[in-house]
Amino acid sequence: LLIDSYQRKIDYLRVSVTDRCNLRCVYCMPAEGIDTMSCKDILSYEEMIRIIRVAAAHGVTKVRITGGEPLVRKNISNFINKISKIKGIKDLSLTTNGVLLKNFARNLAGAGLKRVNVSLDSLNPQKYEKITLSDHIYRVFEGLEEAEKLGLTPVKINVVIIKGLNDDEIVDFAMLTKKKPYHIRFIEYMPFNAQEDWNIHKCISSSEIITEINRFQKIFPVERKGEVAGPANNYRFEDGVGELGFISPISDHFCSSCNRLRLTADGRLRTCLFSDDEINIKSFMREGCSDEELERVLFGAVKTKPKNHIIGENLFKKCTRSMTLIGG
Ligand code: 5AD
Ligand code: SF4
Repeated sequence: LLIDSYQRKIDYLRVSVTDRCNLRCVYCMPAEGIDTMSCKDILSYEEMIRIIRVAAAHGVTKVRITGGEPLVRKNISNFINKISKIKGIKDLSLTTNGVLLKNFARNLAGAGLKRVNVSLDSLNPQKYEKITLSDHIYRVFEGLEEAEKLGLTPVKINVVIIKGLNDDEIVDFAMLTKKKPYHIRFIEYMPFNAQEDWNIHKCISSSEIITEINRFQKIFPVERKGEVAGPANNYRFEDGVGELGFISPISDHFCSSCNRLRLTADGRLRTCLFSDDEINIKSFMREGCSDEELERVLFGAVKTKPKNHIIGENLFKKCTRSMTLIGG
């Protein structure tokens, strides 16, 4: 089994399939986009499948597909279908900005995808356009409906709240869980290099968000038995159909229970979102390594997983890699 130096069991692999994206969210990318990598630098699906298979043989049961925007990579449903057939994989999900979700939902569900997370930072068309530089919010709404209809559930919506940008929509997002079975997940704004303007004052903590929602109407913690707790603290309104989740990488890091390993689109194993010490697994594979050697690379990488990150009030380090390569 993949166990790190601090006795954390690594059973969750996040796979970024592309560095490309069809949006330009202001906090993630410069308006002109980023220099995308050439195809030969990106792992092939076959290479990714091989890594996932070896990881699954050593205890990885959860796989999440990320990007950039994963739905812009060709033949993604086919790739997902191959993952769903790997022995040991029990949970297979995907994070998308939702723009192409309506078109893909049926194929994704048919391919064995279990559920989706949709990134959506505003419910207001003008605000959405200001944040993403795109006017496709209605496509995202249609994508959410379609995902729900096809059972890619629970449909989770990731919202990054940034002071002065969309903090006026906290209650609107919360209210959505009164009429829709969505899980709205508020994620604290984290420092990455693409947006040079990160500072702690733009970051609204989960407890501030909870306080604001409580002022509107009280929310109650959700108890989930027999389930491994993820990083979100979950709540609901008494009369809610959906849930509210709070993910607090800045104010209350959850490193001690972190079970994740990331594979970047260009073939690096990244053991911590905030650590740039990556292992180039692609180079081993392209030099023709055996599965046993691949296993050793994987175990070696897991042993380098840091105890915790150092992002915080006074001390933080910006990652040199953008979110589009790592996949969040
Ligand atoms: N802080 C928090 N979340 C971020 N994401 C992208 N950049 C940041 C950031 N700086 C989110 C996206 C998406 C997920 C993959 O990561 O909104 O939901
Ligand atoms: Fe927006 Fe995600 Fe695309 Fe970045 S990768 S521009 S956050 S949709």
